Amino acid sequence: MSDKVVLAYSGGVDTSVAIKWVPENYKMEVITLTVDIGNVPNLEAIKKKAEKLGVKTAIVIDARETFIKDYCWPALQANALYEGVYPMATALGRPLIAKLMAETALKYGAKAVSHGCTGKGNDQVRLDVGINTLAPDLKIIAPAREWGMTREQTIQYAIKNKIPIPVTKKNPYSIDENLWGRAIECGILEDPMNEPPEDAFIWTKSPDKTPNKATYIEIDFEEGIPVGLDGKKLDGITLLENLNKVAGDNGVGRIDHIENRLVGIKSRELYEAPAAVVLFQAHQALEEMTLTKQQQRFKQKVAIEYSDLIYNGLWFSAMHQDLAAYVQSTQRFVTGSIRIKLWKGTSMVVGRKSPYSLYSFKLATYEKEDTFDPSNAVGFIQLWGLPVKTQAQLQPIQKSSALNSLKASKKSK
Ligand code: ARG
Repeated sequence: MSDKVVLAYSGGVDTSVAIKWVPENYKMEVITLTVDIGNVPNLEAIKKKAEKLGVKTAIVIDARETFIKDYCWPALQANALYEGVYPMATALGRPLIAKLMAETALKYGAKAVSHGCTGKGNDQVRLDVGINTLAPDLKIIAPAREWGMTREQTIQYAIKNKIPIPVTKKNPYSIDENLWGRAIECGILEDPMNEPPEDAFIWTKSPDKTPNKATYIEIDFEEGIPVGLDGKKLDGITLLENLNKVAGDNGVGRIDHIENRLVGIKSRELYEAPAAVVLFQAHQALEEMTLTKQQQRFKQKVAIEYSDLIYNGLWFSAMHQDLAAYVQSTQRFVTGSIRIKLWKGTSMVVGRKSPYSLYSFKLATYEKEDTFDPSNAVGFIQLWGLPVKTQAQLQPIQKSSALNSLKASKKSK
């Protein structure tokens, strides 16, 4: 009996070719594993396709709930946006896929795992590091990294081996998607000066085709986790599906970004993430109400580290565990509701409330209810400005150079 290999199978060109290429080059029996983390086109069709290509064991796992609960929500609580804009749908999905690949391999006694990543992207790092961390004895086979075929040669190989090819002229992009978002690469987008054509977008309407009237939504959070929409309690899957729809219908959630890949390449990345974009905005708005200035400031620093480590494939690390524990602790009062106005490709926070709000009307108001004592301000300002005032008197060099440049700019007028 030949050794087994668990292949992460999406039904796309590369992994379909791998179904034939791996046994040809490694003499192993392929078990396919298709992981559903949302928005997988047709799971049954993918399974059938694998079987038609000769696979005896084609496994499909519905991991949507786990994906949302253990990957999306913690990233949301951390405000983890890579380089400030990318909600990391792909980056968050990979560690979960790696985990399921490792578990499936162990369960079926496979000696190896295989995936369709090329040697140029981040995904190979995320999957390989994940697998090496969780199951170091598994061999990793990455055909698209090894076979040295161009896109055209891969397609030729597919034709020769009677493998149906989903890439057509009508679908010229490389896509990766799940409930948290959709990544669109390749084709005309590789020239960063080209505006993305409308056909690149599936989940979001063009703002000139969206309703002229604004849509208002209200998102309820409990300890930093979205639990309801417009006053109705919803499970994570339904909430994300509904939010993707309503925000996308209003043209919200498009991201066009030049991104720094871990492997050193700058790449032009296009994303659609209507629900994630709105949720990050809403979650941050709720933190503005419920965290102190110091908590917010420190959390921003953590968010950079947190998103970097997710993006860079270090999900299964002690560093992650530690940061996640900190983020969890910050969320204990991030409960409340955020009102958002969706209109013509924009989303705006227009209302917020929380039982733990730190916003005090009595302190903020200029009306008669005001309880703030302004006489305290005088002494406070004296002490606050004391070091600068002292320094300005004792170190006149700074003062004079500032004055000199003031004089010089006056003269040149
Ligand atoms: N640049 C994004 C990332 O690294 C998206 C990658 C999309 N992956 C793909 N296989 N098409 O997370």
